[in-house]
Amino acid sequence: MKSILTATLAALGLAFATASHAADEPPVDFVKQIKPILAERCVECHHSGALFGELNLQSRKLAFQKRSTGPAIVPGAPERSLFHLVLTLPPKDRKAMPATGHRIPKDEVSLIRRWIQEGAKWPNGEEGFIPAKKAAKEKDV
Ligand code: HEC
Repeated sequence: MKSILTATLAALGLAFATASHAADEPPVDFVKQIKPILAERCVECHHSGALFGELNLQSRKLAFQKRSTGPAIVPGAPERSLFHLVLTLPPKDRKAMPATGHRIPKDEVSLIRRWIQEGAKWPNGEEGFIPAKKAAKEKDV
């Protein structure tokens, strides 16, 4: 009994520590922290000229466009967001992202998780737009 109580208290303490830690941290800044990850690791396969998985990650509007397999990003719910889940799959999984090349580092995965948790804020227009190496059409923004 005592050990269960101790474990519960430890878990509560941990949860509290995690929560208060998150509260201390400034919210994730899409332009400074998330955009470079997408530009570097995702947009090459997810732009208007290469719509793998029916997903274009060049702008908020495009990323939230309707897909036949459901939304990729569910603001506030990383555990229901394929955008986050595909990053946590074992590399051998067919759905693991990025589909080729290096896995994305754990700290970037948790940054993305936190960004979705905080509502997946992504500015419209130029600021939030990620150009593909092969020019994307302006009208798509
Ligand atoms: C080398 C090309 C490539 C890169 C780089 C890449 N993807 Fe993908 N992505 C794909 C392909 C191919 C699919 C379709 C896979 C399928 O449905 O079986 C896909 C599908 C997806 C899907 C939809 C999965 C579904 O079940 O609907 C998400 C979400 C996704 N990618 C996110 C990302 C993210 C986030 C990154 C960057 C970290 C990324 N991808 C980088 C090729 C890539």
